[in-house]
Amino acid sequence: MAGIAIVGLQWGDEGKGKITDYFASQADCVVRYQGGNNAGHTIVIGERKYKLHLIPSGVLQNKKVVIGNGVVVDPAVLLKEIEMLRQHNIEPDLMVSDRANVIMPYHRMLDGAEEALLGSKKVGTTKRGIGPCYSDKIARHGIRMRDLLNEEEFREKMERIMPIKQRILEVYGLEKIDEEKLIEEYLAYGKELEKYIGDTIYFLNSIIDEKEVLFEGAQGILLDIDYGTYPFVTSSSPVTGGICTGAGISPKKIKRIIGVAKAYVTRVGMGPMPTEEKGEIGDFLAEKGGEIGTTTGRRRRCGWIDLVALRKFARVNGPDNWNITKLDVLSAFDTIGAVVGYTLDGEEIFSLPSRSEDQERIVPIIEEFEGWETDISEIRSYEDLPEKARNFLNFIEDETGVRVKYIGVGASNDAIVIK
Ligand code: GDP
Ligand code: IMO
Ligand code: MG
Repeated sequence: MAGIAIVGLQWGDEGKGKITDYFASQADCVVRYQGGNNAGHTIVIGERKYKLHLIPSGVLQNKKVVIGNGVVVDPAVLLKEIEMLRQHNIEPDLMVSDRANVIMPYHRMLDGAEEALLGSKKVGTTKRGIGPCYSDKIARHGIRMRDLLNEEEFREKMERIMPIKQRILEVYGLEKIDEEKLIEEYLAYGKELEKYIGDTIYFLNSIIDEKEVLFEGAQGILLDIDYGTYPFVTSSSPVTGGICTGAGISPKKIKRIIGVAKAYVTRVGMGPMPTEEKGEIGDFLAEKGGEIGTTTGRRRRCGWIDLVALRKFARVNGPDNWNITKLDVLSAFDTIGAVVGYTLDGEEIFSLPSRSEDQERIVPIIEEFEGWETDISEIRSYEDLPEKARNFLNFIEDETGVRVKYIGVGASNDAIVIK
């Protein structure tokens, strides 16, 4: 058996949760490898809508779920999510990496304070403490899940870190933290989570040759710390390569990669978005697509599909197939756009430049398609899709060099057409 990767190729919210749920029915184990509760993955099963921020989507299929070492974990959020699942009669078969870094209250405080200081130049983060937690991990000031299980060691670690944290909070004009209260709170989380904490690296490597392991990406490559629209990105590596560092898996074990992309594009938060439609088209896409963020409830910015970015980042991510989601949303349009090129200062460029200042000034070259203007949400076979919809999908394949295999035609978990 093997590892299968599900990765977002845009700015997140491509519909990774839904396709993960689809693949999870065949898999033995589903793994999150990066990000934290900045993610919001929606899965609609029958009348029920589940929103997961931290626990891999495979939990809804009662599969073994793993939170890998590359994830940052807010223990209070994790406990709440476990409780939410219990209320739906799901007892998660969960393992959390002992090496996963813990989001502490000062991470959330600093996330908010930094954003406030940046003012109109802010990133537009989810304010979940993601950036400050990853910063501490790299700076070697992090607390890891295993640290919550031993009072003496945890106290020692906090004694080492807290003078730095208190000083930083003071500089930001934030209230000092009551250290004893914080230590007791986090030791209590440790007690509640102890049975889930373990060596996920050993576990995953012990099963990956015999079992099917699904890696569920959070965010998308345009939010990647290296490849995204820096600095308007998240602080982790949603790219396929992030699986190796975030779960402790050799690249040789990833046998299949599914790239997830919406049939148009959306973005929450600030930063460049070369194909953004600021007028009526953007509003109409947002309305028809129900484009409200799962985590923060913010309205997502919308625009036509960006085939220049998809082509470039398909090379970095290496998808075997596309899952093109929300094709049904485009049924409402008589004309549909697809961005096939960029110009910068009047000259055509063939790749997303590295500077966000340049990314902001890109003028997209849009190719227009006649819309199919029929409801496709009940269609389940590729041949039954309108010819104009199939032409649009063929165009995506030709422009990106990646075959389309899974096509989303509705929010429900069974609204998938397979080519
Ligand atoms: P994720 O973060 O990549 O898992 O995506 P989100 O769950 O944040 O956002 C995707 C939204 O689109 C959710 O509300 C899904 O229920 C919904 N969705 C997913 N696929 C489709 C689709 O093919 N058609 C429609 N209409 N909605 C979809
Ligand atoms: P899923 O997994 C969409 C965005 C935030 C902000 C930037 C940095 O549901 O696709 P952060 O809190 O991570 O420091 O914020 O990244 N962002 C997402 N946008 N989907 C997500 O996750 C996101 N996670 C973070 O809006 O612009
Ligand atoms: Mg989401």
